[in-house]
Amino acid sequence: MEMEKLVSLCRRRGFLFQSSEIYGGLNGFWDYGPLGVELKRNVKEAWWRDMVTGHDDLDAPAGAPSAYEMTGLDCTIIMHPQVWKCSGHYDLFHDFMQTCRHCKKLFRSDHVWDMLKDAPWVLSFAEVFSAADFDNSQVVFSSPEALRWAQKKGKKLAPGLALVRNPSVTISWLAQDLANMPDMDLSLPTLMQYVATEQKAATGLQTPCPNCGGDLTEPREFNLMFETYTGAVRDEENKTFLRPETAQGIFVNFKNVLDSTRIKIPFGVAQMGKSFRNEITPRNFTFRSREFEQMEIEFFCHPDLSREWYEYWRDRRMKWYVDLGLAGDRLQLREHPPEELSHYSTGTSDIEYAFPFLQPGTFGELEGIAHRGDFDLRSHMEGKLDEKSDPLQLELGDDGKPKYKGSGRDLTYRDDASGQKYTPHVIEPSAGADRATLAFLCEAYTEDEAPDDKGKMKTRTVMKFHPRLAPIKAAVFPLVKKDGMPEIAKDIYRELKKDFNVFYDEKGAVGRRYRRQDEAGTPFCITVDGETLTDNTVTIRDRDSLEQRRVKIDDVPAEIARRLANDGL
Ligand code: GAP
Repeated sequence: MEMEKLVSLCRRRGFLFQSSEIYGGLNGFWDYGPLGVELKRNVKEAWWRDMVTGHDDLDAPAGAPSAYEMTGLDCTIIMHPQVWKCSGHYDLFHDFMQTCRHCKKLFRSDHVWDMLKDAPWVLSFAEVFSAADFDNSQVVFSSPEALRWAQKKGKKLAPGLALVRNPSVTISWLAQDLANMPDMDLSLPTLMQYVATEQKAATGLQTPCPNCGGDLTEPREFNLMFETYTGAVRDEENKTFLRPETAQGIFVNFKNVLDSTRIKIPFGVAQMGKSFRNEITPRNFTFRSREFEQMEIEFFCHPDLSREWYEYWRDRRMKWYVDLGLAGDRLQLREHPPEELSHYSTGTSDIEYAFPFLQPGTFGELEGIAHRGDFDLRSHMEGKLDEKSDPLQLELGDDGKPKYKGSGRDLTYRDDASGQKYTPHVIEPSAGADRATLAFLCEAYTEDEAPDDKGKMKTRTVMKFHPRLAPIKAAVFPLVKKDGMPEIAKDIYRELKKDFNVFYDEKGAVGRRYRRQDEAGTPFCITVDGETLTDNTVTIRDRDSLEQRRVKIDDVPAEIARRLANDGL
């Protein structure tokens, strides 16, 4: 599937718009349109229902070490600044960024090479040297060809590139090195660095800017938290942060949840809501946004059982995506190897999806499931812990005192039955609502063949959403706007509206109305036609099979409910 087609459908049919579009948009911010808001709400509601309200507290589900309870929270976006000091976000929530000295654009260091692979100037340059595969093609360099490219296409596409600004000096470094090292493997990435370097002796090989080819500064640290001020005075004392994750609200309310309910370990607390990260290179549609929603669970358990609970949650969360239609080899579970884990964690895995905007064979993270030990509760009790210390110890400042003080509250748990007191371990399944919605959009996009009004086979674009996620569950049409058909159709519409999000449409040819609903992903279309007037039946058309079956009007609500339930409503 080509991403451009999905992006255009999302805009045309009202799934997603760029934020503040009439003012030129704001990078990294997206608005959900009339269909998109329903889709995303359905994703979030499915998560909340399946993880929280629909969870059976009494019996152990398949694969779980025991029964467990689930509950929820809805915390504020702005919290006490000490929360972020103790959690580590204040000191550690950094990305490395580089600025182009020529066009001044900022890039996340770990994204630069990925962006170069897709940069128009790199693709054009690679064409000259017939380098089809960015990483693996060996290049046979030709100075005249490179010069010709620099003077024609390079001027427009990569004005900052050293080869374009100063071709003779740039080419001379490469010619010199090729003469000195006749066996040098000249790959495309190496060549890109040569043509970006004007002063090799002084700077070494440079990494070019994906936008204009100019050279990039050394990587610098950049904190991703958005800052704001609470109160009238904009000074350091009043500085607060927009939360970069929902998780911390759960940790700091651990004691409140215990004290206000009769909940017992093992239990999970869920929260979903907005998070904010000042991403350096927001990109790939909503995949990396600056404002997004998370759906997070902090699951508190006895330390001895934490590995089993981790495995349960990893598999449970993977199954959730499969059940909602992300089946097949585009979805994968990637277990982190032991060397990638924090020393206090017994396991972390990512659920990943092969988004169409990624290089073939690469996957993007939908959700991370992490065993976090007692790191978070202890940090909010004792003060910021040094992540690298083993066993975990308080991080000390230059004065030898704790760098950031904790709350001093007792966040341990006392087991009434055994009398044992301990700091619970935490399993954290942390998902992104926008990334999940984007994956469901990508998975749903289908082009097939279906007959048009005249019975001619035509390409049809259809969003094959799982019925639980479909923004509109059913559409009701009168075949024509006369003979009492609209009245009957409106009655059916009003009856269905009591339980489902349904849509009424009487405008245009019925074939076109079907097509519009196919693009919206509506699983069922109900049509009132001539036969309805004689036998009180209507047709129900199935979006995917295109099968049309006649059903008595009185049976329509039960039939729609049955079909939605069969598909997992
Ligand atoms: N509490 C753990 C945590 O926040 P994370 O891996 O940074 O972990 C969890 O984020 C999930 O949030 C990701 O798997 C992703 O789905 C979503 N997410 C993170 N950053 C995002 C961004 N910039 N835009 C959209 N979704 C994002």
